[in-house]
Amino acid sequence: MFSNLVVCSALAALAAVLGVNGQSVIVPGAPWKDTSGNPIQAHGAGILKVGSTFYWFGEDKSHNSALFKAVSCYSSTDLVNWSRHNDALSPISGTMISTSDVVERPKGRFDRIRQPFQSLNIQLPHDPVLFNSKNSEYVMWFHSDSSNYGAAMVGLATATTPCGPYTYKGSWKPLGADSRDEGLFQDDDGTAYLLYASDNNQNFKISQLDTNYYNVTSVVSQLNGATLEAPGIVKRDGVYWLIASHTSGWDPNPNKAFHATSLSGPWSSQADIAPESVRTYYSQNAYDLPLGSNAIYMGDRWRSNILGSSQYIWYPLDFSSGMPQIVPADVWSVNLAAGTYSVATGTAYEAESGQMAGSSRLLSGSGFSGGQAVGYLASAGNGGSVTITVQGRGTAQWVSLYIANGDSTWRNTTISVNGGSSIVLDQPSTGGGNVVLSIPVQLNLRSGSNAITFSAGQSNYAADLDKIIVY
Ligand SMILES: *[C@@H]1O[C@H](CO)[C@@H](O)[C@H](O)[C@H]1NC(C)=O
Ligand SMILES: *[C@@H]1O[C@H](CO)[C@@H](O)[C@H](O)[C@H]1NC(C)=O
Ligand SMILES: *[C@@H]1O[C@H](CO)[C@@H](O)[C@H](O)[C@H]1NC(C)=O
Repeated sequence: MFSNLVVCSALAALAAVLGVNGQSVIVPGAPWKDTSGNPIQAHGAGILKVGSTFYWFGEDKSHNSALFKAVSCYSSTDLVNWSRHNDALSPISGTMISTSDVVERPKGRFDRIRQPFQSLNIQLPHDPVLFNSKNSEYVMWFHSDSSNYGAAMVGLATATTPCGPYTYKGSWKPLGADSRDEGLFQDDDGTAYLLYASDNNQNFKISQLDTNYYNVTSVVSQLNGATLEAPGIVKRDGVYWLIASHTSGWDPNPNKAFHATSLSGPWSSQADIAPESVRTYYSQNAYDLPLGSNAIYMGDRWRSNILGSSQYIWYPLDFSSGMPQIVPADVWSVNLAAGTYSVATGTAYEAESGQMAGSSRLLSGSGFSGGQAVGYLASAGNGGSVTITVQGRGTAQWVSLYIANGDSTWRNTTISVNGGSSIVLDQPSTGGGNVVLSIPVQLNLRSGSNAITFSAGQSNYAADLDKIIVY
């Protein structure tokens, strides 16, 4: 019996590590592996659907370097299990998409530019590829820039298959003006548009593409002084919804929605898609994929100093209230046939009901569920910890830690299940003021009672722990 349990949990752990079993749920913020067991490297996501297959294009940042490595291409029929293909676009020396540019931090007037781009010479748009039926080819647009961010161009590449590889066609300033953060939108009649931060990121523009999708022909909308980045558009019942972030470097900000019944406007004033304080659940919009009468918000949780460890934040974007709202589901799934989503329910355990030890202290705050959390976890030399007893099902289970980290930098916490060896979970800044965000971790729980100890044996402070939810 005992050895069976050990074998089972070892197998579950191995399967979880290798990712060989596939997944049936989306867990925003969790490391996401492809069907070969490698971390998905497709930041700044863009999705293309061909038949019943989805293609996910993104930036491969696995080298944690500032230089362009590749535009990756993954495919899936369920949005959860993704297989990696050949790279869609690779560096070419002596061109605007080389790996050899000098990399420096931008200064002065570029400080407000979204910093993930500042040291890259290429950036995917948020709708990276369009199929042009006139020419039977796939057309990829991307943000093409010099290492000091001074070029501010779009780049173009084409292919005859979804993953290519794509042939690079060139980089230029659309209509002679800056283009940095950008996206594409293809309307029902096939007309396509470039959405882009222009004029030193001050003015946001929407320009129509020619029928080849090789160039822009005219500006159809200009939002002066809007300072928008990371744009995407979804069309719902004849209404165009522009989802975009503002400019705050690597740090997250409250992304916004604008709507109009024509791409030439007039555009509404901005509205929140999530409570402002959570800063879009520490993410920046990358792509918005229609799902039935709703959509899926696909964002990036950037980690500026370990770019390849930036996680994907995908949430339902629900339109049932008439205004798009992110549903901050810890664990959820998509029914593609029905065009619906369902949010998993778990069991919540308050940290203040756990067993506190060492320096840990009860904290009060209106942002905490039950008005309390446990803080001063893992203070230097005094080992503050809290142990929470939860019920498990004898398998690998998702557990969400609801945390508050008022620092501007990340923290981390150790986690030990039933006295086993500790793992370390990274904890982003939550922005202060007792703002709480949930951070997922997969733990092997035995059937019945489990004691989970947080922050024992670490010297750096962990985030304050409000509660955990076991799924
Ligand atoms: C992913 O693939 C696994 C099998 O490898 C399957 O069990 C699982 O249901 C798939 N996920 C979805 C969402 O279809
Ligand atoms: C795009 O169109 C403009 C004119 O609007 C032209 O000057 C420019 O050369 C074109 N760029 C490319 C790459 O075709
Ligand atoms: C945890 O955070 C501390 C301080 O923030 C850092 O020094 C340490 O390297 C981190 N540990 C891991 C395993 O990332």
